[in-house]
Amino acid sequence: MLLTTLPVISVIIAFAAGADYKFPNNFKFGVATASYQIEGGWKDGGKGESIWDYQTHTFPNRILDGSNGDIACDSYNKIDEDIRNLKALKVDFYRFSISWPRLLPSGFANEISEDGVRYYNELIDKLIANGIEPMVTLYHWDVPQSIENLGGWTNRAIVDYFGDYARICFKLFGDRVKTWITINEPYSICEYGYGNVITAPYYNSTGIGSYACGHHVILSHAKAYNIYAFEFRFKQRGRVGITVESSWWEPDSNSKEDRTAAENMMQMYFGWFLHPIIKGDYPPVMRLRVDKKSREQHFPRSRLPRFTIKEIIEIKGTIDFLGLNHYTTFMAKSGTDGPVPSNINDVGAILYQKPEWKQSAREVFRLVPWGLRKLLVWVKKEYRNIEVLITENGYAGKEDETTNDIERIEYYNLYLTEVLKAIHEDKCKITGYTAWSFMDNYEWTDGYTMRFGMYYVDFKDPNRTRTPKKSAFVYQNIVVTKKIDTSLDLHEFLH
Ligand code: BGC
Repeated sequence: MLLTTLPVISVIIAFAAGADYKFPNNFKFGVATASYQIEGGWKDGGKGESIWDYQTHTFPNRILDGSNGDIACDSYNKIDEDIRNLKALKVDFYRFSISWPRLLPSGFANEISEDGVRYYNELIDKLIANGIEPMVTLYHWDVPQSIENLGGWTNRAIVDYFGDYARICFKLFGDRVKTWITINEPYSICEYGYGNVITAPYYNSTGIGSYACGHHVILSHAKAYNIYAFEFRFKQRGRVGITVESSWWEPDSNSKEDRTAAENMMQMYFGWFLHPIIKGDYPPVMRLRVDKKSREQHFPRSRLPRFTIKEIIEIKGTIDFLGLNHYTTFMAKSGTDGPVPSNINDVGAILYQKPEWKQSAREVFRLVPWGLRKLLVWVKKEYRNIEVLITENGYAGKEDETTNDIERIEYYNLYLTEVLKAIHEDKCKITGYTAWSFMDNYEWTDGYTMRFGMYYVDFKDPNRTRTPKKSAFVYQNIVVTKKIDTSLDLHEFLH
């Protein structure tokens, strides 16, 4: 008993300041997942192959535990159970993604899968029947392998293919879905998948492939937004945004060089995507630095592609709200790092984390709650107080984590306290918060070695049993009371 009470007491002391604010009445809470990470049913109902199906089956050694998402949480067969668990959390909305190859098995718009339509219709209808708003991400990393065979996000042709896919989703589900997120985490897609070998499709083309990918992600987002604006908005009255991720980059010192390095991280990591979408074209500092470095590296033209004037106009303003994903913070100091060429090398920053920052199961996901507040304030200033919906934030637990997830509770309480301060003290326009994740799931290249969920999923059990962790009860209490209650007696939830 003593062992379980102690951490709770320390948590209470740590949260005192700021935790007594309340979230506004119209503030919405939700939880998130993504298709490949939870659905399973990888070829059920005639589903096509995605890059993750292809990579995990062909190169299982690229995944930490050699696993794949063939079954994952089996949500393809568990709509009712998932909805019951969402209802128990009392969340306002559920953020999930549509699997492009489940809906369009060939990847292209020549054939729409009846089973795909059935699955997402059923999910959406049942969510609404249970008072939970569906929030849909069109693309959360599972591009059809047929399109990857053409170069995936590095081939400009994807802009039209993505537009076709988006139009079909708006047409099929837009009568009921009112919040759309076009693309999840462009930096991760492009840097980790095309720049590096951290996620599929493992291109390893830093500073070249990643910039080509980014260019087409931005154009694809704008294409989908404009399709919605011109063809659907009048009738469907929904909103379209994009989810961009960023850590906070804290200057290592007050020197001009370190402050510039940290600011350049913001501009060339986060602004890489948001500057074109909100202000038009790439951030000037990114244009300047990549052009200069490219010249010095003897490239005949800049590695960062150019938008035409027409494209700049078409892209600018294609955002109704900003979806923000955030997990941790880094210190940034001026200097040269990373492979040549690469985004980090172009930025001119050296990043590190302080050893005293508390670690989680993912080494770099350290607990630095104040970083989220600083990021929110930066966004407010840089993007004229744009509406922000936090679309992901959460804690990485180890594979052997149990339902007694005290650290996750600490993470949520601390990070949400910073959100409260940003709302009340900094007057940031934040309208919602989404916890990652609803349940433990397939963590990409880390396989099943990490747990982010509020529901524990037993991956060894063919039934993929879900059990609420303690954090589920704490989150439910926050959702209902709109307050953080650090004195919540968790013992009553134990049995
Ligand atoms: C992604 C999720 C992922 C989470 C934790 C985000 O980058 O959108 O799919 O599971 O981080 O790593």
